[in-house]
Amino acid sequence: MKFENLLIKTENNITTISINRPKKLNALNIKTFEEIANAVKLNVLNENTKCIIITGVGDKAFIAGADIKEFLDYNASDAYDFSENGNKFLFELIENSTKPIIAMINGYALGGGLELAMACHIRVASDDSRMGLPEVSLGIIPGFGGTKRLPLLIGKGRAMEMIITGRMINAEEAKSFGLINYVVKKEKLTDFCNSLANKIILNSPNAIKHAINSLNSNYKEGFSNFSDEILNFSKCFDSDDFKEGTSAFLEKRKPNFK
Ligand code: CAA
Repeated sequence: MKFENLLIKTENNITTISINRPKKLNALNIKTFEEIANAVKLNVLNENTKCIIITGVGDKAFIAGADIKEFLDYNASDAYDFSENGNKFLFELIENSTKPIIAMINGYALGGGLELAMACHIRVASDDSRMGLPEVSLGIIPGFGGTKRLPLLIGKGRAMEMIITGRMINAEEAKSFGLINYVVKKEKLTDFCNSLANKIILNSPNAIKHAINSLNSNYKEGFSNFSDEILNFSKCFDSDDFKEGTSAFLEKRKPNFK
């Protein structure tokens, strides 16, 4: 299968999926969402792949979030579908993948980018990475599981603070919060992730599949509330704040919320 916005390579049973929109800091437009979902599905079925690494092309960003330009004209109903479909077809697909997926965070992981990393099974970040859920600065909230997975990983207090301030944290702080598993020097990031993947693939694929399933089942109950996030996310799109926040971003100015 040909991909417009992804580079894919498989070596020694490890498949690396790289999001290739560096000029847009690898922001996730609809096309890229669909391509990542297809690439994950294909590689879960591919016998040659035993572990998947997801990363971003370029040295500035892993993924700077959903593509703000694309949802500029969304109303609440479009936003509801966007959030529900994204969750169902990509984020849950990653989380429940029977093959382990490592997020190799090589720069900004913001909004939907951090949410994608949080859906992965392991997160490793380069020492210059910055992470956050800045959606409130755009007049919206996280819509791909951020209000659910962030408190699971770092606790409610820290998650609340990160989400309502929208502030970015650096890799060391993210590690101390438990948001990521490792911080690695930028030049060692790829080797480190490959050696981690190599360690994983020595183990039984069948046992790994059941371990992922069993671990995920601990949190199913907390996740029954995805619908609240989807609804709250969509409601934001009917507000003047959403129009002001997104226009301000694209016009490269600070928003002026009333
Ligand atoms: N969507 C669309 N385009 C984006 C983008 C995004 N999320 N992030 C960056 N870009 C684009 C910029 O518009 C710019 O394009 P142009 O050159 O055509 O103007 C290009 O990428 C480079 O970005 P900057 O000039 O802004 O680079 P910078 O170094 O000055 O700043 C940054 C880097 C701090 C990451 C800044 O780009 C930024 O704040 N990005 C947006 C982050 C964000 O708000 N993410 C959340 C998106 S909403 C979301 O994800 C919703 C959800 O949960 C479902």
